[in-house]
Amino acid sequence: MNWINDALEFSIERTRANLEIVTGFPELTKSGAWEYARGGSGGWVGGHWVGLLWLAFAHTRDEMFERAAREWAARLAPRQHDTGTHDLGFLFELSHLLGVQITGDASLETLALVAARSLIRRFNSRGKFIRAWGALDAEQNRGRAIIDTLMNLDLLFWASRASGETQFAEIANAHARTALQFQVRADGSTSHAMDFNPDTGAFIAQGTHQGLSASSCWSRGQAWAVYGFAETYRNTRDEIFLAASRHCADYALQHAPADHVPFWDYASPLVPNDVRDSSAAAILASGLLILAEQDRANAERWHDAATTILQSLWENYSSRGTREPSILIHGTRSKPHGSMDHGLIYGDYYFGEALRKLATGK
Ligand code: GLY
Repeated sequence: MNWINDALEFSIERTRANLEIVTGFPELTKSGAWEYARGGSGGWVGGHWVGLLWLAFAHTRDEMFERAAREWAARLAPRQHDTGTHDLGFLFELSHLLGVQITGDASLETLALVAARSLIRRFNSRGKFIRAWGALDAEQNRGRAIIDTLMNLDLLFWASRASGETQFAEIANAHARTALQFQVRADGSTSHAMDFNPDTGAFIAQGTHQGLSASSCWSRGQAWAVYGFAETYRNTRDEIFLAASRHCADYALQHAPADHVPFWDYASPLVPNDVRDSSAAAILASGLLILAEQDRANAERWHDAATTILQSLWENYSSRGTREPSILIHGTRSKPHGSMDHGLIYGDYYFGEALRKLATGK
């Protein structure tokens, strides 16, 4: 299909142009310019930028992209010791393990293993969840876990295979089961957050941070769930995770608007006069392609749904003809925090990742 090649070429040319202009880890676009992840150390999005550089190298074999990916990955090195966030999977899978996959250079694995060791320090063994936010000794958010963490588990499953130590996979498995039990509702929708008593581990309630309410379904969180449960199934072969990914995917597809790109929250009363989240669509599409690989009986259905979403993103949400430096536009970082209608680096990354899968099967 010609549009896939066009979209890939456009994404690579945008990445090449961005490499010339960025002075930090790009996070979102506003009025035609990038805003950078705060603090200079990559925030939760540094891996997505490096991942785009690796994808560009994989497609073009232009050594300039490999050099840039290595340089930007090296800037994330101090984060391997960061015990103050759950985001280490986003950071080190895309900056380091993707590099191993594309170049075969196993030396990039070293930092990823250290990052996995930092990440498991956030596991609450009573509640069986990985804490999302806050320094290990901070009281605030001690009992809060979020759906996004499902995306950080693949790093832990990999760490068990790489090190031979089972603890990483056990923690990842335990967290995924907890998320399935408390965040996935009977209709296949999910809550953004789940709160526990951090001392006893008792579940308290569903909650939200970036969604409309505790009982609503934040569309990017739903996409994290589809993708994260499909990956967890790939790592565990436990059928409950395959069923969870399918269930969450069905909800997202059944509640999709006509152009297949979700509004920021499926429960928004303002729909259809509300903002979209193109990043949710890109993550969902890439997650559906993982599901298609794992769920062979329904592979065609998931693959077709992903292709339809990606084609709509390309036709209706690409930055062609605008002054935005991102690849996609109309992403919502967080409507409750007043941050919407941006290009988002993670929307761009998962769009590129999914296009690569469509084009090459990798
Ligand atoms: N992981 C943060 C977000 O999805 O906005």
